Amino acid sequence: MYTISVLFVLAVISTKCKGQYDPCHVFPKNQYILVGKGTKVICSCMKGSKIYWTVNAEHVDEKLSERVNATHAILSLNDVIKPLTVECHNEVTHQVVGGTTIRTYTKPINISCILYHEDQGGAVRIPELLTCSWEHHIDTSLKVNYTVQCASSSAPDSSKKKRCSSQKKTCTFKNILTSIGISDDITVAVTATTAFWEVVSDPYEVHLYHIFKTIRPELKVTARPDELFAQWRRTEDNHIERCEVKYRMISSAKEEPTKWSFNYSQYTTKHTIEKVKSCINYTVSVRCALERAPWSEWSHERTILTKLSNHQAVKLWRKLSDLGKKGVRNVHVMWTGIPSTCEGTFNYTIKQIPIQNHKTEINDHSCGNTTCDITMDADVYRLNLTVFHNETPLVEESVYVPAAGENFTEVTDIQTSSRKGTLLVSWKPPTRPVDGYMIDWTHVGNQYFWKRSEDTNATLFNLQDKTPYNITVTPLFDGKTGHGVQALLVCSALGDPGDVIVSVEPADKTAVVTYSVKSQDPCRGVVNNYTIFYGKQKGPVHNVTVDGQTKGVTLKDLKPDTEYHVNVTAMALTGNSTSKEMLFTTKKMDPSLIITLGVCGCIFILLVLTLGLCCTVQWKKFKDKPVPNPGLSSVALWSSQNHQKGKGPFQQFLTPSESFCDRVHTEDTQTASTSSLATDCFAPEQTEENTDMAICPSPDTQYEQSVKSPCSPGESTAFLPSESSPYRSQSSVENPNKQCKRVPVKLQERTPLKTVYVTLDMFKEDQSR
Ligand SMILES: *[C@@H]1O[C@H](CO)[C@@H](O)[C@H](O)[C@H]1NC(C)=O
Ligand SMILES: *[C@@H]1O[C@H](CO)[C@@H](O)[C@H](O)[C@H]1NC(C)=O
Ligand SMILES: *[C@@H]1O[C@H](CO)[C@@H](O)[C@H](O)[C@H]1NC(C)=O
Ligand SMILES: *[C@@H]1O[C@H](CO)[C@@H](O)[C@H](O)[C@H]1NC(C)=O
Ligand SMILES: *[C@@H]1O[C@H](CO)[C@@H](O)[C@H](O)[C@H]1NC(C)=O
Ligand SMILES: *[C@@H]1O[C@H](CO)[C@@H](O)[C@H](O)[C@H]1NC(C)=O
Ligand SMILES: *[C@@H]1O[C@H](CO)[C@@H](O)[C@H](O)[C@H]1NC(C)=O
Ligand SMILES: *[C@@H]1O[C@H](CO)[C@@H](O)[C@H](O)[C@H]1NC(C)=O
Repeated sequence: MYTISVLFVLAVISTKCKGQYDPCHVFPKNQYILVGKGTKVICSCMKGSKIYWTVNAEHVDEKLSERVNATHAILSLNDVIKPLTVECHNEVTHQVVGGTTIRTYTKPINISCILYHEDQGGAVRIPELLTCSWEHHIDTSLKVNYTVQCASSSAPDSSKKKRCSSQKKTCTFKNILTSIGISDDITVAVTATTAFWEVVSDPYEVHLYHIFKTIRPELKVTARPDELFAQWRRTEDNHIERCEVKYRMISSAKEEPTKWSFNYSQYTTKHTIEKVKSCINYTVSVRCALERAPWSEWSHERTILTKLSNHQAVKLWRKLSDLGKKGVRNVHVMWTGIPSTCEGTFNYTIKQIPIQNHKTEINDHSCGNTTCDITMDADVYRLNLTVFHNETPLVEESVYVPAAGENFTEVTDIQTSSRKGTLLVSWKPPTRPVDGYMIDWTHVGNQYFWKRSEDTNATLFNLQDKTPYNITVTPLFDGKTGHGVQALLVCSALGDPGDVIVSVEPADKTAVVTYSVKSQDPCRGVVNNYTIFYGKQKGPVHNVTVDGQTKGVTLKDLKPDTEYHVNVTAMALTGNSTSKEMLFTTKKMDPSLIITLGVCGCIFILLVLTLGLCCTVQWKKFKDKPVPNPGLSSVALWSSQNHQKGKGPFQQFLTPSESFCDRVHTEDTQTASTSSLATDCFAPEQTEENTDMAICPSPDTQYEQSVKSPCSPGESTAFLPSESSPYRSQSSVENPNKQCKRVPVKLQERTPLKTVYVTLDMFKEDQSR
């Protein structure tokens, strides 16, 4: 029973689902339509499910969709301008039940045609070729075949029709004028054909003359003074032509701009280019066109050297030297204006005409091409330059030379400033009125530039960069010139500060960097500040900036025994200069420490040496004293009398001279271990031979105590026998000395000692027995 009911439910569900499945299809598929046109799309579903449309994934307005009957729905699309994707959706499930794409195409547009000659040279004749081109935008990579039809507008019948096929957007008809007259209007239409569609362009109607590109003109150019004359062959009879001439000066220095001369005239075939410069190459070319028709090709370019002008201006100026000792001065005369490229021979002469009344002698000077150096006396002269071209005088110019030392009014207070490679010069005018000023300037000393200014200022152009110039300003009045005033060494611009030289003195954790800027060049910028860049190899770069007055910097916090690099940038307002990179290695230790250690070491060594010397001296002294032979002495009782009188030669022997050396040792040992040394000293039984010197006071105390000292020896040493004593070889002799020195006992501290005193007197007595 349960199983049956489950089956039933499943059956019901399955029937329901089956009922909703409704196969649909959308047609027509893959349409192509002309841009701007409309189309219809049908969605048909077998079971008549409700549907809705989307176009390019957007819902479509209900109005555009129409339900024709139970199974068919139609979507109307108007004015399609771009490709569309149309989809049909089931209204219940929202599933896409069918779809199609609509693609667009356009007509060929902007048709243009040109009638022209295949060969640009040769005689005037009928043009052979007609080339038409157009634009066509299609949104697919479909292969398109174009057919161009050209027909005479007056007689559009088949006899005056021509066709041309192409797969590109241009097509050329040959010999079209055999079937169509040159004076005809023509109609051109382009048909584009693909596998899916075909479209014909709007017709293009044009008069053949308006598309006639005439043959390239043949140009001839001749040079005349101040102008160029261009002539060319007429290319077409009886029709208005316009021509265009372009020309350009060919200058080696720079690219000269092209200039144009336009002319519209019915029959002209010539043109004059006026005001050309003298003796310079120009290129000229021309092109022509029928009225409204396209330009012909440019004619071949003609290059021609212009002639020297009849009014060639010559600029003349002079520089005066100071009057020499012999009353002679040099006048450097110079001029410009005759280009070196001019043809023919040029000669230059200068007439030196005295102006003072009593002089009449006129000197002629024959000169070089641009300058003339003349020596003259202190008088006033006028110099006349005459330029001869092929032996005939071409132009004359004169310049005034004032008398040397003549108190002419001069300009004052010349100021200069540089700006962007130019120099602005200004000055105060002299008190008397002037016509103008001549400014001359030079950067090499003997080659001058000059120009005239009416104002009390001038701007000098075309200067060498960062170069010192000498500038002179000379007033001009009444056709005369005054004396010039010179501004010395004005820089056209300031540069960077110049080479930076760096030196480093490394210590262990610091390094002193010193630097300087080396340059003889006067046009260097003034250093505003220095930046020192330094760092370990492959480490970060640190920097320190100081002002331009600081000549050295101490780098701190460096690591000992490490390689560093350092460079210095000098910064001026006009640019920066950076030194070469320098490497240095910091020291392992502080050099001052090393020096201190060294000094201490030396002092120590000196001390030791001194000490050694002292000891040697002492030893020598001791050795030179006669030493008694205890073997030859006898033992006797110590008499108090003897004791009292305990002074004599031995006393002297025991009292060492007061020397630095003794003192040092005494003090040393006193501080060391008083007790142990004292013990040694007071243990005479350990060395029998020491009997003579068993106990000694310290040298310090001996001075006061020597007489009372218990160890004070007797006077017997003077009677010591021969050196062959067996004791001699023993250390008895040294011991007294040594021990004496080392005994540090202070009298105050001394405890009463129970000791057997032996004096040499005993031995003496014994011996004498
Ligand atoms: C619905 O209309 C279309 C075209 O209008 C027609 O082809 C089709 O047979 C019609 N269907 C029915 C069921 O009438
Ligand atoms: C285009 O022209 C060529 C030859 O003229 C022809 O083979 C081809 O089928 C044409 N294509 C179309 C799309 O008309
Ligand atoms: C154009 O040609 C005419 C006649 O030859 C001439 O008078 C006129 O100056 C020319 N114009 C120019 C701009 O060259
Ligand atoms: C002067 O110019 C002529 C050409 O005009 C040239 O042959 C000659 O060498 C020049 N003389 C000097 C000194 O420059
Ligand atoms: C500028 O004039 C001075 C003095 O007359 C002269 O010594 C110097 O050479 C001149 N310098 C230049 C670059 O002409
Ligand atoms: C020269 O001075 C005049 C008048 O003082 C001024 O108008 C002119 O701009 C100045 N020219 C230059 C180049 O400074
Ligand atoms: C260094 O000098 C330049 C130029 O005067 C200035 O612009 C800059 O601020 C200075 N730098 C420092 C750190 O003073
Ligand atoms: C100097 O170092 C500082 C940081 O330490 C940095 O900000 C600055 O840009 C550096 N200056 C130069 C000129 O490199």
